[in-house]
Amino acid sequence: MRSRILGTGAYVPDRILTNADLEKMVDTSDSWIIERTGIRERRIVGQDQACSDLAMKAAEKALAKAGVLASQLDLIIVGTCTGDSPLPSTACLVQQKIGATRAAAFDLNAACCGFVYSLALADAYVKTGLQYVLVIGAEVMSSIIDWTDRNTCVLFGDGAGAVVVGKAEGDDGILSIHLHGDGEHSELIQVPGGGSRFPASEQTLNDKLQFVQMKGNETFKVAVKTMEEAVREVLTFNGHSIEDVDVFVPHQANIRILKAVAQRLKFPLEKTVINLDRLGNTSAASIPLALDEAVASGRIRCGDYVLLAAFGAGLTWASSLIRW
Ligand SMILES: CC(C)(COP(=O)(O)OP(=O)(O)OC[C@H]1O[C@@H](n2cnc3c(N)ncnc32)[C@H](O)[C@@H]1OP(=O)(O)O)[C@@H](O)C(=O)NCCC(=O)NCCS
Repeated sequence: MRSRILGTGAYVPDRILTNADLEKMVDTSDSWIIERTGIRERRIVGQDQACSDLAMKAAEKALAKAGVLASQLDLIIVGTCTGDSPLPSTACLVQQKIGATRAAAFDLNAACCGFVYSLALADAYVKTGLQYVLVIGAEVMSSIIDWTDRNTCVLFGDGAGAVVVGKAEGDDGILSIHLHGDGEHSELIQVPGGGSRFPASEQTLNDKLQFVQMKGNETFKVAVKTMEEAVREVLTFNGHSIEDVDVFVPHQANIRILKAVAQRLKFPLEKTVINLDRLGNTSAASIPLALDEAVASGRIRCGDYVLLAAFGAGLTWASSLIRW
């Protein structure tokens, strides 16, 4: 028995922050950002928007596409590292907002792998008896960015993507999902403050510990290596080769990472869905946003082999192969 994605949905805030806007904020240039990252613009929440607001909008679209009512949901999982607040979970806020009266709800933090990790849980829960699970990747990365740090502020954006997972009928569906973690490299990408190690205080704010810190260069190398490994693992597990893949939906961090992965796998970049030029790195939201775009545009069709691969802080990395 397998699970499958019954419907996808996405939402990004209206406000666009271009590279030209960033040129006025930090010592950077449009050409540097495009050349080093491939990013041209990103979306940023409005003042009255938090993570659950984006998540709710993506969720409602995914439910409509799946033809499932919120009241039919058994479980809501929100993959995020930028929830509305530490307590309660953003998933519970979404549960209330969409009226999913009988659904259990929790958040999952696996950074940029949050969506694939959450999808793995949905897959397992459906296989063990739940009927409908809503999986959302939603982030307000702008809330944890130091807008005076050019090393990080050019990279990230806000948004949400969602899928409804239910039982598959035939041979289609989620073929497998593979998850990995390695705390050995936890210092590569981190937000050190605001948790139990360094609770928020005047000192932590002065030290800017509430913002993302990243060792970009080292992260880049690990990202390429883990993404390649993750793809090879899921293909080998399912007895497929890279030529069998119709559409690749990777986590969107940097176009140079995607090009390097494609080159190592000997996979044509044209079969890779890319949204980072318009949305930047939206962390856990990047894969479901790209997935929804590819489905809506007809790029993913029934019967296609769809490959997902992600990496992120933790470190975490993950992959999945889906027969659509
Ligand atoms: C961050 C990243 C774009 C930087 O690109 P890079 O080619 O590695 O650049 P470097 O870090 O080597 O920096 C090169 C120079 O550009 C400068 N620079 C950094 N950010 C800049 C910016 N926004 N504008 C202009 N110059 C910048 C650096 O200060 C450095 O200057 P120096 O040589 O005088 O010290 C790249 O390393 C990256 O994408 N890493 C992975 C990040 C990632 O994926 N994070 C999320 C994981 S989910």
